[in-house]
Amino acid sequence: MQQSIDSLLQQLRENAALPFEQARAMPKAVYTHPEFLEQEQTHIFKQEWICVGRQDAAKNPGDYFSCEIAGEPILVIRDKEQQLRAFSNVCLHRLSTLKQGSGNCARVVCPYHGWAYNLTGKLVGAPQMQHSPGFNKQDYQLPEVRLEIWQGWVYLTLNNDAEPMTDKLSTLSDKINRYGMEHYTQTFCETHVWDTNWKILAENFMESYHLPVLHSGTVGPHSKLEDMDCPPGEPAYNYHWLRKEASLAIGNAHPDNTALEGDWRYTTALIAIYPGHLITLTPGYFWYLSLQPLAVDKVQILYGGGLSPEFIDDPEGIKAIEQLKILLDEVNVEDRQGVEAVFKGAHSALAEPGHLCWLERPNYDFANYLSQRINGK
Ligand code: FES
Ligand SMILES: [Fe+2]
Repeated sequence: MQQSIDSLLQQLRENAALPFEQARAMPKAVYTHPEFLEQEQTHIFKQEWICVGRQDAAKNPGDYFSCEIAGEPILVIRDKEQQLRAFSNVCLHRLSTLKQGSGNCARVVCPYHGWAYNLTGKLVGAPQMQHSPGFNKQDYQLPEVRLEIWQGWVYLTLNNDAEPMTDKLSTLSDKINRYGMEHYTQTFCETHVWDTNWKILAENFMESYHLPVLHSGTVGPHSKLEDMDCPPGEPAYNYHWLRKEASLAIGNAHPDNTALEGDWRYTTALIAIYPGHLITLTPGYFWYLSLQPLAVDKVQILYGGGLSPEFIDDPEGIKAIEQLKILLDEVNVEDRQGVEAVFKGAHSALAEPGHLCWLERPNYDFANYLSQRINGK
């Protein structure tokens, strides 16, 4: 029999209220309960800033890409004044979605009956509508969605009252500004769907505890858990550091990089911005996931990466990121097996979640975030 949502929320709250040293992994049903997902959509994905990619995915006027947040179709497009904007991607005639994928256009033309919108969302063409006396082009404007850029990332929110992203992440900016992530260039970006709950994948990213074991066939042998530093998180994000020479040259600062000094030249930041933007930031490259739930058992994953300015200008850097992409794809196959196995286990009637390891401090912080967002509203 399914647990009641009230008892699940109470369990989550009680576990989150324990000191970290005593806390266990989150209750099983947070990963499987359909009503919990509804609560997440209402209190998290419709309220928070959601990362939909890098701003260099739409560099020139008319460049666009489509995306969704909390199931709402959105079009991100650069206007003639070079401003990146986000609009509802639904036609105001009979509600066809407008654009799919990415590209460049002078006007956004609906594929159904040809209504056309300019790059600021105004209706500028509507075939045959001069014969409809009540119709007036000027009355039609695609609804605009809040968009903010932080360190080169494009964030959207459906919540008009959401605190500006730059304010929310100001303490994170202080920690990582030295990397200059806003100047990194994306070299790949893909979308995938995996059969697991979105939080299982988010939590998998937040802890490096699994690296030596789950990734024993790839990056595990290079992972030294004693090189990890897992400080307590902040309300909007958690993070941990990995301080050691990277096995791959692009994981350390390029010789032309004069901004990073001392240990920072070989320190990696592993950042989880709530709800599901997960970034591995090294002095030479970055890669990331941005997660959104499609169902209790399906997560949509935006997966991309790229290089720092010094490596983007170095032909060796381009070769190395291509090799790294091959390695990351192999690592992702291992992670996929891991997180799909956890999702299966979360349905067990017999098993109960156990205590967290010191390397799972970010998971504890994430559980607190969820508990506050869902219980607190
Ligand atoms: S639905 Fe777009 S023009 Fe008719
Ligand atoms: Fe992993």
